[in-house]
Amino acid sequence: MCGIIGVTGTPDACEVLLAGLELLEYRGYDSAGIVVADPEAGTLWRARAAERAGSIQRLRDRLDEVPATPGAGVGHTRWATHGPPTDANAHPHIDCTGRVAIVHNGIIENYRDLAARLDATGHKRTSATDTEVLAHLIEDEVEAGASLGEAVRRCLRAVRGDFAIAAVHAAEPDLLVAARRTSPLIVGKTETVGVVASDVAAALATTRELYALDDDQVAEVRPGAIVVYDLDGVRVEPTRIEVAWGVRRAMKGGYPDFMSKEIHEQPQAVRDTLLGRIGSDGSTEIEELALSDEELRAVRRLVFVACGSSYHAGLVARQAIERWAGVAAEAEVASEFRYRQPVLDDGTLVVVISQSGETVDTLHAMREARRRGARVVALTNVVDSVMSREADGVLYTRAGPEIGVASTKCHLAQLAMLETFALHLARVRGALAGDELAGIAGALLSLPDALQATLARADEFAAVAERFAEVEDFYFLGRRTGFPVALEGALKLKELAYVRAEAYPAGEMKHGPISLIEPGAVVVVIATRSSLWEKVMGNVEEMRARGASVVAVADEGDDETAGLVDAVLEVPSVIELCSPVVNVVPLQSFAYTVARARGNDVDRPRNLAKVVTVE
Ligand code: M6R
Repeated sequence: MCGIIGVTGTPDACEVLLAGLELLEYRGYDSAGIVVADPEAGTLWRARAAERAGSIQRLRDRLDEVPATPGAGVGHTRWATHGPPTDANAHPHIDCTGRVAIVHNGIIENYRDLAARLDATGHKRTSATDTEVLAHLIEDEVEAGASLGEAVRRCLRAVRGDFAIAAVHAAEPDLLVAARRTSPLIVGKTETVGVVASDVAAALATTRELYALDDDQVAEVRPGAIVVYDLDGVRVEPTRIEVAWGVRRAMKGGYPDFMSKEIHEQPQAVRDTLLGRIGSDGSTEIEELALSDEELRAVRRLVFVACGSSYHAGLVARQAIERWAGVAAEAEVASEFRYRQPVLDDGTLVVVISQSGETVDTLHAMREARRRGARVVALTNVVDSVMSREADGVLYTRAGPEIGVASTKCHLAQLAMLETFALHLARVRGALAGDELAGIAGALLSLPDALQATLARADEFAAVAERFAEVEDFYFLGRRTGFPVALEGALKLKELAYVRAEAYPAGEMKHGPISLIEPGAVVVVIATRSSLWEKVMGNVEEMRARGASVVAVADEGDDETAGLVDAVLEVPSVIELCSPVVNVVPLQSFAYTVARARGNDVDRPRNLAKVVTVE
């Protein structure tokens, strides 16, 4: 939520900021803004715009006004929390003197108290944001004689909440000051330039020499130099970040949008994630896990904790762990887990699942689990993310950067990694015979080809989706591994197409929701062959008897299923526990097509942001 970029030491500061904002827009696109110091005039130059997808272009339109030799600058792309998306609420925010500017991601929880204090001492606030109080607090500290770095440190001691910030001051035109608590922020440099960014992709265009900041660290970034302090002003060493990919992977590469690019990258994302971790004989190796075989044998219970699509991956993982490794497993939504005082002990392994490694609900749930004595493993796609640095061990997916707000390739890579982990646990604990391990390994290793074959049917999926593009109400049904797929299909349709889509375990419909079924209702059912196929089809009959149209995800060439429904989305057959990896693909395509038919922006659906860093 909200993207931050900052740069110092280049005459192209504004161009760097705008290019960075374009890469960060996935984090929020309610408004955008930049500020640069003008060393000659001793002032700040600011431009802001709140025009959703058009904000950055409006800033570009003003480039002829920028100072000839700009100093340090910061930029921001916003997902609104406090105050509607207007020009006045767009960042950067400035103080009363117009000499301090700040951008912020997160929430200042005690901003009302701080604002009341500032108002009482005569400060004039011009926005409805929580952020603006920071600019005025820094103003007071600078007035009292502090440097910008010291002013930021002092002001953050008074602040409660989660934040990443970057600030500039007209009096120190080469200096960027950056700090974070929970929300992500990295810093980087070359010999002549300094950079600050919310994510690696936005900083990579400038440098590969990047460093992570820990909670409550404040970086002073000057051209070619970074110095980091804690809030007491004690100097600390930031952690170097190793990045294995280039900025081109965060571009569309000829596709009309990031979502279609990322859907087509899925076979590779799964292949890369499995690489070197599974042998065809059922052997497994997960280097970064950092839990010994002995420790894995001592685990009595697993709890998967996550949000959104990552939670759906956890629902699949739980079944694989129980079935293959014979260990009790649960999956829970992070925002609920954190507050229900979960009973955990040192026999519990909590696996937090987060593509970004930043989602604040999941991060706080992870910290709560550790406080309660559980070991914690983080499954994430982002090396050196906040979660991977705080966890006892990590499971990395290797999907490359995912920019589209709807998770696609990262969700599939999560499923592949979690199933690899389940196989690993089964092997280490001796829960399966050698031929069973080899059979599952073979099924996992065949997934990239199965995905390629599935994507070859993309036109068929689109043709089915077009028939239903005007429908306003969908029901998604599945049993066992089909239920998390139904949840994921419904989530994709809701977030992209803005239509109602409810997912239920197929057997649950008759306990209430079936009363909603009448002619015109559309039911999407996961009906690939499994031991529960007959029961699923029984539920399909119940829907059709009440007038619903039924679209089924079914095995290739399964004429029996095709004959019982109105349309099929055919996929290659794989073993049941691996089937979610394949079965979810036609539903991504379905949501994509319906959303595009309705004229929606699939990469930037309304009200959403890629990374959710507020509760
Ligand atoms: O980065 P995370 O995996 O923690 O994100 C979790 C959810 O916010 C995310 O999966 C969200 O539901 C997506 N928009 C789903 O497409």
